Amino acid sequence: MKTDELRDAYLDFFVGKGCIRRPSDVLVPNDPTVLFTPAGMNQFKNEFLGIGKLEFTKATTCQKCLRTGDIGNVGVTAYHHTFFEMLGNFSFGDYFKREAIHWAWEFLTDKKWLGLDPNRLTVTVYLDDDEAFEIWEKEIGLDRSRISREDEYENFWPAGAPTDGPDGVCGPCSEIYYHPPTGGKEVEIWNLVFTQFNRVGSPPDNLKPLPMKNIDTGMGLERTAAVLQGVESNFEIDSLRPLCDTVGDVLGVKYDFSGEHGRAMRRIADHVRAVTMCVHENVLPDNKEQGYVVRQLLRRAVLEAYLIGKQEPVLHKLVPKVVEMLGKPYPELKESVGSVQSAIQEEEDAFLDTIERGLNRFQRCLDDAKSTGIITGKDAFQLHTTDGFLYELTDALAARHNLKVDRMGFEQLMEEHGIISNAGKQKSVMAEGPLDAIRKTSGGTEFVGYESSSCEAKVVGIIAEKQLVEEVTEVGHRDLIAVVLDKTAFYGESGGQVGDTGTLTADGIEFTVQDTQKDGDLWLHIGHLKQGTLKVGQSLKCEVDDERRHAIRRAHSATHIMHYALRTTLGDNATQRGSKVQQDELRFDFAQKKPLSPEELCRIEDIVNTHIAEGSAVTTKLMAIEEAREVGAMALFGEKYPDKVRVVSIGEFSKELCGGTHLANSGQVGMFKIVAEEPVAKGVRRLVAYTGEKAMAEMRNKETLLRDIMSELKVGSADEVLRKLESLQNELKETKRKLSEQMRQSIGDDVSNLLAEAEKVDGVALVAHFVPNVDKDVLRDYADRLRKKAPAAVILATDIDGRVALLAGVSTDLIKTKGMNASNCVKAAAKLVQGGGGGRPDLAEAGGKDPSRIDEALKAGLENFRSQLSS
Ligand code: ALA
Repeated sequence: MKTDELRDAYLDFFVGKGCIRRPSDVLVPNDPTVLFTPAGMNQFKNEFLGIGKLEFTKATTCQKCLRTGDIGNVGVTAYHHTFFEMLGNFSFGDYFKREAIHWAWEFLTDKKWLGLDPNRLTVTVYLDDDEAFEIWEKEIGLDRSRISREDEYENFWPAGAPTDGPDGVCGPCSEIYYHPPTGGKEVEIWNLVFTQFNRVGSPPDNLKPLPMKNIDTGMGLERTAAVLQGVESNFEIDSLRPLCDTVGDVLGVKYDFSGEHGRAMRRIADHVRAVTMCVHENVLPDNKEQGYVVRQLLRRAVLEAYLIGKQEPVLHKLVPKVVEMLGKPYPELKESVGSVQSAIQEEEDAFLDTIERGLNRFQRCLDDAKSTGIITGKDAFQLHTTDGFLYELTDALAARHNLKVDRMGFEQLMEEHGIISNAGKQKSVMAEGPLDAIRKTSGGTEFVGYESSSCEAKVVGIIAEKQLVEEVTEVGHRDLIAVVLDKTAFYGESGGQVGDTGTLTADGIEFTVQDTQKDGDLWLHIGHLKQGTLKVGQSLKCEVDDERRHAIRRAHSATHIMHYALRTTLGDNATQRGSKVQQDELRFDFAQKKPLSPEELCRIEDIVNTHIAEGSAVTTKLMAIEEAREVGAMALFGEKYPDKVRVVSIGEFSKELCGGTHLANSGQVGMFKIVAEEPVAKGVRRLVAYTGEKAMAEMRNKETLLRDIMSELKVGSADEVLRKLESLQNELKETKRKLSEQMRQSIGDDVSNLLAEAEKVDGVALVAHFVPNVDKDVLRDYADRLRKKAPAAVILATDIDGRVALLAGVSTDLIKTKGMNASNCVKAAAKLVQGGGGGRPDLAEAGGKDPSRIDEALKAGLENFRSQLSS
């Protein structure tokens, strides 16, 4: 059975059992406790915790997952990946152990489905889970010898939860193993988690039965495909082997599973697949969090390719194959091939610039570490910060030589240099936030802000000093307070659009809203209580600052028009990377390597202003996500959208999935002006533009500036400005030229006089001279001429901007013949003016803070020269 068929069969089977088929969550979920989605259950945390309204009680998914905990095993073992797909079925207080076990068995062994030989399957259960044991033995008919009991580190989820935590929902699990006919190692293909407890505190008695018993299951798609296809490694299945072969093609080395480079090529295949999925979802290589993981994965792959002998960037060429292999379940991947490739190539280029140097340094570190067995934190830090060899790469390379790296030492240095280190640690899986209490009692906030800018609402929660409180008074709380309402007209910051501001009022109560944020389905009105006492349950009138909102609407509709104009001008690879929409101002980031030319910018402005002048209707429509895709609505990859999405259309030319607030007609934008075009990150550029009143004000400012320049230059028309500037510049150039000629002339005269009057010791002219208020170049000119014209040792000083500059010079011959040294002289002189410096024996400089003692400094300089000659 092909991998694509297995995925469909699984989902069909569980839909047949009444599960609702849900889409995969995005790879970076809206969940601060994880960096990447690690399992199918993560998108159902609220359902498991009983938070909010249950839309369904049974679900099935194929989830895109990314785990890097076992990265060392990728390519080595048969079954480890970073990116992989997990098939799952879930029950929220619906079916439980019996059905979960029966259905798993049916799907695996029934000829209509996978038809695996039951004799090749064994199972495990948690130590005291007699219920599961009995179902397997008595109902499924498995022999006792094929059921084993394992401890909480093997058969509990999360692993070790009873003893080690985290607190939260958890449960015993039962795993199903397949034993291949070849006699190879058995493989765990399915994990059935019976999520039946809430862990509270340390043992004993810390597992409280949940009111609702749940099911969370996970079956590794690639592993099960390997079993069905009778191959010994996941990398041999129909959706991965061709990718490994393509790795061979781009490296110019034939892929051979057990060949010299087999492991490395599997690692490349795995990492580039994972990176492609991440970059597609807008997670670009970076120095922190998710981006750091992506950078690490890609650099690991580049290093593998380099060690095989590929010194130019080739990994981006694998992207089309990855997309082809995953094209059926994720057809949207095709839309970003170009931009994903160029993002990967940028990073390849960057790392390849320093890789050779890094490998050389690593080799030296290796030699140093041979005796101790440990690569020092300092070496790892140098590799990390100067050669782009991220800590994890050094660690992996070191492991190949049976060496360890001093991680503590490395982290200490990172901290000392104020660098935030890498990926951060994964936190607890099922933590419950403070707002969940509000969700449990009152559900989410209803948003009525599309239709109206005011409404009546009731307070359902108040957060002051990070705690839920029942009431606040104006006297007690000067800090920001967050008010949660059952209903609101305020737009909560999302999709790049800022939150609304306004007021919440009732008799004797006034609350000013400075910002509105969203936390899932709750709206937080953040601001200050100006008057009265605010209590949970209080009814209020909520009113949005309409004028500000209108300016935001102008900017938002203009953003959509500009997005269209951008793609028309630059092509479809200029994909959106981010945006920020505020009052009459918008910022839009997009994939683009080169700066935009003035012509391109004008073209974009023209297209936008034409569409504004056209006065096209702006319409919004709620539709199913599939329908939105069919009508070609633009969506942001990596963004989780609800089942019903809002599609905002402007005329016939623009359709975008968008939750923001918009105008009714494009003409209301009034005016559009790009004010900046700048780089944001490698391969990403930003346009900043103004709309409406702000665009007008910007033009006026420019006009005023031009008028001021005209009056300053005393010209009558704007056309004359350039001509006038040119003639002023020429005048300036000519004046400078004359000045420096004069200066040279006068230095020449001075030099002759100074030498004639100089003290002579042992045939050497000793010169000390103060030149007021000149820059260092003039002093250097003096010194050079003096020391070239005669055997001389000179110390010169000037005062400029309240500081002292000193310069000493010695004729080159005197260094050898008399052991003279300008640096010693200037240091001795500098001490007297509270300064320091140094340089070469023939020429040295110093600075100082005390111009009042320049005379003394010059004397000290002379004295130093004298003593150099007498010693
Ligand atoms: N959540 C369970 C796992 O990841 C199914 O193994």
